[in-house]
Amino acid sequence: MAKLFAGVGTSHVPGIGAAVDHKKTQTDYWKPLFDGYEPAREWMQNEAPDVVIIVYNDHASAFSLELIPTFAIGVAERFQPADEGYGPRKVPVVEGHPELAWHLAESLILDEFDMTIANEMPVDHGLTVPLSIACGEPDIWPCKVIPLCVNVIQYPSPTGNRCYQLGKAIRKAVEAFPADLKVAIFGTGGMSHQLQGERAGLVNADFDIAFLDDLTRNVDRLVRIPHVEYLREAGSEGAELVMWMIMRGALDDDAREVYRHFHVPASNTAAGLIILENP
Ligand code: DHB
Ligand code: FE
Repeated sequence: MAKLFAGVGTSHVPGIGAAVDHKKTQTDYWKPLFDGYEPAREWMQNEAPDVVIIVYNDHASAFSLELIPTFAIGVAERFQPADEGYGPRKVPVVEGHPELAWHLAESLILDEFDMTIANEMPVDHGLTVPLSIACGEPDIWPCKVIPLCVNVIQYPSPTGNRCYQLGKAIRKAVEAFPADLKVAIFGTGGMSHQLQGERAGLVNADFDIAFLDDLTRNVDRLVRIPHVEYLREAGSEGAELVMWMIMRGALDDDAREVYRHFHVPASNTAAGLIILENP
């Protein structure tokens, strides 16, 4: 059977992708951030998951404001990097895992999570930047990817608790899939940042560090953080952190932290990365 063995939470700042693409990772500004990504890349290479479920949000690249799915799952053979305004990133095409993705869609919908099924879904920095963070610059990505897109752009977005419960349903679905696959799940976005309005530039490192701590120490607190608290404490885009709750829900209660990196600033964002493994 397939096994969901680990989760990664990571920011998905587009500037991180641009730093990789334009060979700037060793500049004074970016080096401390990328140095902290090295152990995560080693972990990814050593663990070599067959499939990664990447929970991310689309930033009006695949979905405009005409159509906003709350939860969408990509079931295609492949997903093209999206054009975000400067042309698509020159990163490898993202290869899907249609069999597992359809199995997930069926299991989740029968478990009463009404997923939108995406046969075509260009993937933007929300998904490609975490791949660059974890995998560097390979000619082809080393794992299959199932994109799971969450609306955190247009109010109302799903609650942290709904996301956490979806994570639990994902875990159940993966472990009922009859193939020997090693599966990881990434939750992306955050940490604190706000890109717009009077508080643009807001970062709250205390909130972020407490969030990282409580992923292993007190998940119950995180599950109950309401949107208004994310907005107040972590900024309007800090609310992307609900996607980490999907990742956390897919892991054991006693998952353990194996690596953490936290760096301020990356563009406008407090950049966090955490790796959690099931015992
Ligand atoms: C930035 C961060 C994001 O998460 C995003 O989606 C866009 C921009 C930033 O910090 O610049
Ligand atoms: Fe974002």
